Amino acid sequence: MIVAGSRSQALAAAVADELGVALAPVEYDSFPDGELLAATPGFDAERAIIVSATTDTAAIVELLQLQDAVSEAGADSVLTVLPYMGYARQDRPIAPGETAATTPSGYPVSARAVARAVSVATDRVVLVDPHEPDHTALFDASATTVSAAPRLADPVPDGLAEPVFLAPDEGATDLAGTVRDAYGRGTVDAFEKVRLSGDAVDLRPSAVDVSDRDVVLVDDIIATGSTMATAVEFLQDDGAMGVYVACVHAVLARNALTKLYRAGVDTIVATDTVERSVSAVSAAPPIATEIRETFL
Ligand code: R5P
Repeated sequence: MIVAGSRSQALAAAVADELGVALAPVEYDSFPDGELLAATPGFDAERAIIVSATTDTAAIVELLQLQDAVSEAGADSVLTVLPYMGYARQDRPIAPGETAATTPSGYPVSARAVARAVSVATDRVVLVDPHEPDHTALFDASATTVSAAPRLADPVPDGLAEPVFLAPDEGATDLAGTVRDAYGRGTVDAFEKVRLSGDAVDLRPSAVDVSDRDVVLVDDIIATGSTMATAVEFLQDDGAMGVYVACVHAVLARNALTKLYRAGVDTIVATDTVERSVSAVSAAPPIATEIRETFL
C-alpha cells in the first residue's frame, strides 16, 4: 500500500495510480499540547511505500510516525520516498548569515541528522533530485535517486526564440542541460553566484548574449526566490525576450512568488515534489518506475 504524508497527498495518489497499488487510509491529528499524530488506521499490507515530502520540521516527525505506524500494522518491508528532503541544504556545519570562509564548530550537519532519523524504520529510501547527488550517502538505509527534471520541459512553450537554458549558479548547470535536452534545442549556460545571506545573493552575468532571446532559468530549488529574482532582473536589463523559471522543488518560502512576479518573470513551472500552485508537472512517473523496478 502507498501511504501519503500530509504534504504529498496528490503526488502519493498519482504514484498509487501509476503503480495500480492501493492508497492507504491516513489521519493527521494533534494533541492539545501540540504534539502531532500521523496514523494509517487499517493499513493492511506486507509492503509499505511512504511518500512524504519533508518540507518543514513537523513533516519530519509525521514521516517518522508513519514509518512506525506501518511497522506496528505488520508491514515487513518499508520504502520511504522523499520527494523533497528538508534540511538537505544544511549538509555542512552552517550558521545563519555565515559566509563560505567560516566554518563554526559546535554546529550540526543537519542533513545527516535528519537522514539518520529517517533511516531507522525503513529498508530503502528514494530521493527525487537531491540537492547534491552524494546525499544518498547521508542515509544509513540504502538510498537511490530519481530525476523529475526532464518533465520540466513539458510546460515550456514550443517555438521559443533561440532559447537559453540558464542556471543561476554553476551547481545547477547539469540540471539546465537536462531540461534543454528534454526540450530538444537551445544553449546552456550559468551565472556565477555568491550568497550574501539567507535571503540575498549576488550574481555575475553569464557570458551568453540573451538580447532578443527567450531564457529558461533552471534551478533545483526556489526557496526565498532571491536567486531567481536577481537572475530575472539581470535578464530583463540585458534585453531578454521571455523569461521562464523552472525548478524541481518549489519551496517558495514567505514572499518568494511575489518577488518573482515583481521581477518580471513570465511563467513559473515546477514539479509536485513540493505541492504548490505552480506544480505543473508530476514526479510520479519516475518515482513509480523506480519502485516498480526495485521494490515491487
Ligand atoms: C542553491 O545551491 C540552490 O541550488 C538554490 O539556488 C537555492 O537554494 C535557492 O535559494 P533561494 O530561492 O532562497 O535564493
